[in-house]
Amino acid sequence: MSIPPVSFSNRSQRTAEAPISYLIALAKANPQLISFAAGLVDPMTLPAEEILVICQKLLKDPPTAREVLQYGTTVGSRTYRQAILDHLCRLEDKPPSAMSLNPDNIVLTTGSQQALYILADILIDPGDIVILEGPSYFVYAGALGSFGARLMTVPMDQDGMVVEEVDKLLHRLELRGLLPRVKAIYCQSYFQNPTGLTLGLSRRSRLVDIARKYSKTHRLLVIEDAAYRELRYEGQDLPSLKSFDPDNRFVISCYTFDKPFAAGLKTGYVILPTDVGSALIEQKGNHDFGSSHFCQAICHRALTEGHYDSHLKTVIDGYRKKRDVMLSAMKKHFPSNPQIGWTYPQGGLYSWVSMPRSMNTSRTGSFFEDCLKAGVLYVPGEYCFQPDEEGSIPQNHLRLCYAVTPTEQIEPGIRKLAEVVRSHLNRV
Ligand SMILES: Cc1ncc(COP(=O)(O)O)c(C=O)c1O
Repeated sequence: MSIPPVSFSNRSQRTAEAPISYLIALAKANPQLISFAAGLVDPMTLPAEEILVICQKLLKDPPTAREVLQYGTTVGSRTYRQAILDHLCRLEDKPPSAMSLNPDNIVLTTGSQQALYILADILIDPGDIVILEGPSYFVYAGALGSFGARLMTVPMDQDGMVVEEVDKLLHRLELRGLLPRVKAIYCQSYFQNPTGLTLGLSRRSRLVDIARKYSKTHRLLVIEDAAYRELRYEGQDLPSLKSFDPDNRFVISCYTFDKPFAAGLKTGYVILPTDVGSALIEQKGNHDFGSSHFCQAICHRALTEGHYDSHLKTVIDGYRKKRDVMLSAMKKHFPSNPQIGWTYPQGGLYSWVSMPRSMNTSRTGSFFEDCLKAGVLYVPGEYCFQPDEEGSIPQNHLRLCYAVTPTEQIEPGIRKLAEVVRSHLNRV
């Protein structure tokens, strides 16, 4: 008797393997490749010594050890959430009352990815609409797609998401009777993945105003992804979208300690309106009834005992140098051509390179193949876009991450990439 196949859920069938898994596997299988693909943090900067000191303190004292090695609560430790709120208020230079926040508006999550995923879980029914930047963070686009969300993109310029286009899109959707299906606007407010661009100051309050304006049949939420906020290498920090939501009604902000501190701890947090918080906690109970209590305790100590701040200074210095090496190598080696350009990120981990439209950087194209032969790997920009109304996707971009590549390999990697660019330019 033949054994029938498993009947997977619709959500499972809507979920494809993340494209980055293939690229990471490719880099692992070919260690000679210079990889600008994976957006991992720099392994050489991870805070092993600081975490060793913290762990010794946590585990040496038996009552503390017993507490941190036990389950915590679904929402997470209150004292840690208070420390996070204090940290956030320092960043914003505002008291919690100015944003109507208290520690109960914070939920500790397993990385910010879990917060983003559970938000999709509690907000999206198949056919619901989420508005996001084009290009955007492809992992979250994939997660939203698995819930059956319709993803509608608005363009970006040097100041990030063009929020007036959000207004126009919502207006068009309202005319078509589709406003009730629009659940959220997903916006990366700092050093966006994949472009490295930051949402301009005046656009921040405007985006929250737009969400307020179109909150007619239900509250339209802004999901602010601030994963890279603290990795700023130059310029002044900008107030978050959350800071323009004084009554704590419209903005949900997702943060992580993974990028600026230790990715292996997978510790993030989300700041949300009270009613959204309750729904998220209930759903998180289904997921794990609480993120790692031990990892929370480590991050809590790091935050309150100064390890976090001093480590952040070190990683910022390291990433700034790597960014500069990559940007000057691109300037030196890329052919000068008005159709070739790249972003100048003031923080985060990525630069976004645009090629002439005729040059196809997709994974199945000869450009990607030639880069592999030359020994260099990047993320094809096609993954970061949603199909337009004709079903087409721009295929002339590359995402380059400067964080993981050893500094001395960055210039040789860019030189190899530039050679492939030059040879393909000669063909078109
Ligand atoms: C824009 C963005 N948001 C969220 C995440 C999730 O990271 P984590 O779950 O480690 O906090 C990432 C990871 O690369 C990201 O790039």
